[in-house]
Amino acid sequence: MPDDVIFDIMKKSDCREAALIEKDIFKKAAWSEQDFEDTLDLSYAFYVTAKRSGRLLGICGLRNLGGDGYISNVSVIANERGKGIAFGMLKYLMEYTAKVGVEAYTLEVRSKNRAARALYTKLGFEDEGIRKDFYDDPRDDAVLMWKRKGNI
Ligand SMILES: CC(C)(COP(=O)(O)OP(=O)(O)OC[C@H]1O[C@@H](n2cnc3c(N)ncnc32)[C@H](O)[C@@H]1OP(=O)(O)O)[C@@H](O)C(=O)NCCC(=O)NCCS
Repeated sequence: MPDDVIFDIMKKSDCREAALIEKDIFKKAAWSEQDFEDTLDLSYAFYVTAKRSGRLLGICGLRNLGGDGYISNVSVIANERGKGIAFGMLKYLMEYTAKVGVEAYTLEVRSKNRAARALYTKLGFEDEGIRKDFYDDPRDDAVLMWKRKGNI
């Protein structure tokens, strides 16, 4: 993990760059700057950034619904992958939100997204179900993963 990468809570001033990263990675399904700004207004939403010298390298976040943290928008820019940034960023997100009452974490991931599934498994998530043909473009199943208390 590069020691010049800094994790922090996302601010409104990060939303424009966050939307650019999303657009590059998720194309039509990307969140807009407004989507990020609206989400940051929610008292139960927590978003984290990874930056080097003020430049955004990655983002992730969750919504806390009754103690379950629904993680989404996990991304790291292409030329910074494989350096432990997503792992560090998600650990930061989970440590931060554990202090505000999140007890378990869950997410959906494309079954064919090997990198992301390996990342979540390394963080202690386990496969708990499949949603058949959940994704379009290209069509794929969603794997539902959970990290419940203690399963790291
Ligand atoms: C998935 C993603 C966030 C991983 O980010 P990253 O910063 O490169 O991940 P890290 O370097 O922190 O990797 C941590 C672990 O994840 C797994 N992993 C990451 N990239 C991998 C790859 N290309 N192949 C296999 N496993 C991989 C490994 O277990 C790795 O641990 P290791 O280095 O000890 O082997 C990044 O590839 C990305 O932004 N992809 C596009 C967006 C996306 O798919 N998001 C997830 C949506 S659910």
